[in-house]
Amino acid sequence: MKEGRDFNMTQENYEMGMVGLGVMGRNMLLNMAEHGFAVAGYDKDLKRVAQLRDEAGDLSVRGAENVADFVALLKKPRAVMILVPAGPIVDSVIHDLLPHLEEGDLIIDAGNSHFTDTDLRQKTLEEKGLLFFGMGVSGGEYGARHGPSMMPGGLEQAYSAVRPVLEACSAHVDGEPCVTYLGPRSAGHYVKMVHNGIEYGIMQLLAEAYDLLHQGLKLSDGELGDLFDEWNQTELSGYLVEITSDIFRKVDNETGKRLIEVVQDAARQKGTGMWTSQDALALHEPTPNIDIAVAMRNLSGLGGERVAFTKKFGTARKSFNGERDVLIEQVRRGLYAAIIITYAQGMTQLRSASQEYEYGLNLSDVARIWRGGCIIRSALLEPIREAYTKQPHLLNPLLDENLGSAVAERSDDLRAVAQTAIGLGIPAPGFTTALTYYDSLRAKRLPANLIQAQRDYFGSHTYERVDERGVFHTEWEKE
Ligand code: 6PG
Repeated sequence: MKEGRDFNMTQENYEMGMVGLGVMGRNMLLNMAEHGFAVAGYDKDLKRVAQLRDEAGDLSVRGAENVADFVALLKKPRAVMILVPAGPIVDSVIHDLLPHLEEGDLIIDAGNSHFTDTDLRQKTLEEKGLLFFGMGVSGGEYGARHGPSMMPGGLEQAYSAVRPVLEACSAHVDGEPCVTYLGPRSAGHYVKMVHNGIEYGIMQLLAEAYDLLHQGLKLSDGELGDLFDEWNQTELSGYLVEITSDIFRKVDNETGKRLIEVVQDAARQKGTGMWTSQDALALHEPTPNIDIAVAMRNLSGLGGERVAFTKKFGTARKSFNGERDVLIEQVRRGLYAAIIITYAQGMTQLRSASQEYEYGLNLSDVARIWRGGCIIRSALLEPIREAYTKQPHLLNPLLDENLGSAVAERSDDLRAVAQTAIGLGIPAPGFTTALTYYDSLRAKRLPANLIQAQRDYFGSHTYERVDERGVFHTEWEKE
């Protein structure tokens, strides 16, 4: 079997170890090795160890077939990265490693773990004298191999120990690495969770734009491929827009049709978007674009109900009689505004979470490390970064001069898209929700006064008045 060039390198010489040699783990290791670091990998599945050896070529990569051999390869104090599916597997890997590790060794969980699990693991491992940090990694297989965005949190001293490796193998934008220390405990995994929530929100908006243009305007997949490619050269430029264009162009080898036409319309999820919404709700932070994106994935999966409803009620779809080019441009501009609003919701959630969980997040740094390598990288992250560099405590990115005027100048387009979608019977809850968020935040008076009155009516929950300080209760049913 083939080994890396350092096959004969003595034990205790490898700078980083990886447990979990799925495609992400293998690619991360190869990436580190390509940047000059000697690395070792281990997986219970020996086929994956063999695959790592095959892929390593001349690089300083060593594959181990059991935990003891693997740990023995690592330079002390050891640094072990774990890249396995979130949940109990992470605990079982840690459990297997523990008897072989010593005080001062570091474990990095680079999967999509829930932030509360990360807090618990750090506490438990610290009690055993080990260092631990949770690190979100974004960028998929390609990113892992050629430069991901990485979001580490935990003990700063632990981060410093592996900083050179992480900085070298991360994506770089304008010479700056897309990785930085984010904050204590689960700060890194929390930031990655919100990254994924924003990812869900943007994907939902792109899907709605597709629906409007494909079902509403009858643009062909080929035309959509060209259009999204064009859009990717504008302010909308970003990874998700870019891959969407590629997707429309892909032909299915089996049927000769565009592949997108034969993909089942039921979106699945691993849970990070839902976790983002759940915690936003717990923090009382409105993130409606993320919430609706999760709900629409769930709704898309209601196959049986959707068939029954179509049979019983028919479809709501109407044909479009307006100016096609006008709508296309409104969708492009409205999409940009709605995407800004989606990022804004994610950033405000991070701001709240940072206060509540005392992460001390620097939101300018968060935007900076999202500019490259990750799934939500886009041209917009630069103005978001600038906004937080100018005003680190900005309440909402939409209050920034640049971002705010970008939305204000496109709010008529967003409204036109929402109205057209409703008229055509094409569900566009991402667009309408973005508009609702924006309209609600700038409404002088929301109808929440009625909700307060109702709460006080049926439950004596009290209310505040606009003209007097204090808390009031009224016997509403009495004269
Ligand atoms: C990334 C992705 C990655 C993964 C998502 C998919 O940043 O590289 O977000 O983490 O592809 O977890 O999430 P769903 O399966 O929930 O869509």
